[in-house]
Amino acid sequence: MNRFTTITDLRQYFLPLRSTHTIGLVPTMGALHKGHLQLVENARQENDLVIASIFVNPVQFNNPDDLARYPRTLEDDCQQLESVGCDAVFAPSVDEMYPEQPTLRLNFGELETVMEGAFRPGHFNGVGLVVAKLFNIVQPNRAYFGQKDLQQVAVVRRLIRDLSFPVELVRCPIIRETAGLAMSSRNRNLTADERNQAPALFEALNMAHDLLREGESIVQVKAAVDSFFNSRPHFRLEYLEIANADTMQPVDEVLAPGQTAICLAAHLGKVRLIDNLVF
Ligand code: PAF
Repeated sequence: MNRFTTITDLRQYFLPLRSTHTIGLVPTMGALHKGHLQLVENARQENDLVIASIFVNPVQFNNPDDLARYPRTLEDDCQQLESVGCDAVFAPSVDEMYPEQPTLRLNFGELETVMEGAFRPGHFNGVGLVVAKLFNIVQPNRAYFGQKDLQQVAVVRRLIRDLSFPVELVRCPIIRETAGLAMSSRNRNLTADERNQAPALFEALNMAHDLLREGESIVQVKAAVDSFFNSRPHFRLEYLEIANADTMQPVDEVLAPGQTAICLAAHLGKVRLIDNLVF
C-alpha cells in the first residue's frame, strides 16, 4: 500500500492513472474500526483503485477537548487498511492541509440548523471544507461515507450538488457490534462499564421505531425516549429527532419507506455518541 503525506506526491502518483482507472475515496479521521473497513471493502468492489484518507480535521471540531481526546492510531490504521486491500493512504499533516488558517466559510442553510449542526456550531463548515479539499486533491469517481453520520451524508450530497463535483456519493449501512452499539472511533474512549451501557442508544432507537410503527405520534415517541433516558442517569440525551432522511428537517409524521430517520445524540461519561435508524 502506498502512503502519501503531501498533496504533490499524491497527485503525481494518481495523475497518470486517472484516465484508465476508477478511483474510490474513503475519507476518515483514523482510529479505524470495522465500519471504516467495510467502506473500503465496498469501494474495493466498485473501483479499480481505493484510497483512504486519514486526517483529524481540526476545523470541524468545535470543542478543543474533543479534538485533543480524538484517538490517533496511524500505524495500526495503515495495517488494517492494507489487510482489506486499500491501494493508498493519504495522511497529511495539518500544515499540509491548511498552510494558513482557512477563511472560506460554507453555509449549508437549513441542513445545519438542526441536530449536529445546531449542537456543534461550525462543524459542517469544517467537514465541507475538508471534503471539498479531498475531492480536489484525489479527484475520485466515488466517495464512501457511513450512514452513522447521516447528516454529514446530507451535507456532502449538498456540497457535491452545489459545487458540481463529478463524484458519486455512496452511503454505506451502519456497522454495529453484537449488542447493537454503532461502531465509532469514539467508542475507544468509553470505559468498560460505559461500553456495557452504550447499546441502550440502539435500544432507544428500536423502541422509537416500534412505537411509530404501532401508530404513536411523534410527540408521544419523543416523550417515551425522554423517559427511557431519564431512567438511565449515566446518559444525557442531547436530542432525539425524527426527520426527513435526505433533508434532515424534522417531520410531523412518518414518510414513505426509507425516507424517515430517527436520530439521536447522547453523552455517556465524557463521550458523545450519535446513532440513527432509517425506516
Ligand atoms: O466522518 C468523518 O470521519 C469525518 O467527518 C470526515 C468525513 C473524514 C471529514 O473529516
